[in-house]
Amino acid sequence: MTVVDWEALREAAVEAASHAYCPYSHFPVGAAALTSDGRLVTGCNVENASYGLGLCAECGLVSHLHLTGGGTLVAIVTRKGDGTPVMPCGRCRQLLWEHRDRSGCEIDGDGTVRPLAEILPGAFGPEDLAGT
Ligand code: THU
Repeated sequence: MTVVDWEALREAAVEAASHAYCPYSHFPVGAAALTSDGRLVTGCNVENASYGLGLCAECGLVSHLHLTGGGTLVAIVTRKGDGTPVMPCGRCRQLLWEHRDRSGCEIDGDGTVRPLAEILPGAFGPEDLAGT
């Protein structure tokens, strides 16, 4: 079983949030995760003058995952720039779900570590496309 340094992930999430581009919401978010092979991947939110096109921190994290070798996510933390908790939005819950480690993936968004499955009950995922 993977040992997770949750405190290091929390620090990395806050550090990632310091790179956020959020001139419209002024709401910096950072995400950090441990991959199945022990890498640390991070992301920050990047907004756009066309407001609806803004990218959440979790989008950047998933890109970082694939840029650095792929694999799956074992432990995830999301935080605001000031270190306070922030739960992933609905879209990002689905985004993270796709890349979860099938042996287990936990998330701390609000200060409590819980299975990712708990925040996306009855999830739709790649497995549902089998045979199509
Ligand atoms: N945001 C994230 O980066 N992740 C989430 O899961 C929640 C929302 C960002 C999007 C936007 O740039 C700002 O927070 C305010 O909604």
